[in-house]
Amino acid sequence: MLKTNEIYNMDCMEGLKLLDNKSVDLVIIDPPYLLNLNKVRKPTNMNSYANDLINLKDGFDLKVLDILIQKMKKINIYIYCSKRQVKSLLNYFSDKNCNHEILTWHKLNPSPLINNNYLPDTEYILFFRERGVRLYGNYHTKRKYYLSLTNKIDKQKYKHPTIKPLELIERHIINSSMEGDLVLDCFCGSGTTLVGAINQNRRYIGFEINKEYYEIAKKRIEEVLIKKGEKTEKDTI
Ligand SMILES: C[S@@+](CC[C@H](N)C(=O)[O-])C[C@H]1O[C@@H](n2cnc3c(N)ncnc32)[C@H](O)[C@@H]1O
Repeated sequence: MLKTNEIYNMDCMEGLKLLDNKSVDLVIIDPPYLLNLNKVRKPTNMNSYANDLINLKDGFDLKVLDILIQKMKKINIYIYCSKRQVKSLLNYFSDKNCNHEILTWHKLNPSPLINNNYLPDTEYILFFRERGVRLYGNYHTKRKYYLSLTNKIDKQKYKHPTIKPLELIERHIINSSMEGDLVLDCFCGSGTTLVGAINQNRRYIGFEINKEYYEIAKKRIEEVLIKKGEKTEKDTI
């Protein structure tokens, strides 16, 4: 049994084994994207799921989804992904009695590396919910697109190269959960989903395999709890 309102410095494939089945209301994940098939590293340790995650053609192992489905009360999941991953994720959920949406984050100042391509200004967020799962939120939070500049300030502040906009993550949380619900992010990076859950009065569990990012997320969470008056500086020493 895992304590809620915690981030764990673990490989999520190990951590998820410790989580009760049917205990999670909402999953938000932003797994490693696969951007260039030629740059995939070969695994050095065949027992390590973390290596497996980068060794698969989809950028992360769809086995994670099999486990997440067991952990959710009903399928209710947002998955950040690259264009390459859209097809396999739609296929994966096609026989699971789900509705889906393709949401997007459009960056207003993408890098000007165009060559023979369109601008790299769009990230995809696939949302799957089992039939019967409610969508809350309002006119503003239910827009399918989110426009912003790239996250330079947060990137510098929290030192994570792929940090996502907190406001966008909070929209998913508002739209797809209620106060007190349990939100899970098993690739939590600098902890954006967990901070969003705290801001929206939800419970959370996070896994992050990288010690440095885990420490960054932990500190970020503590700062938010202090700001909210739910912790004092003394509690963190
Ligand atoms: C795309 S980043 C997430 C960024 C996050 N959404 C944010 O806003 O900061 C993916 C994260 O997953 C972590 N990760 C990769 N494999 C993992 C695994 N097997 N278990 C837990 N975390 C993992 C990486 O270290 C990385 O920080």
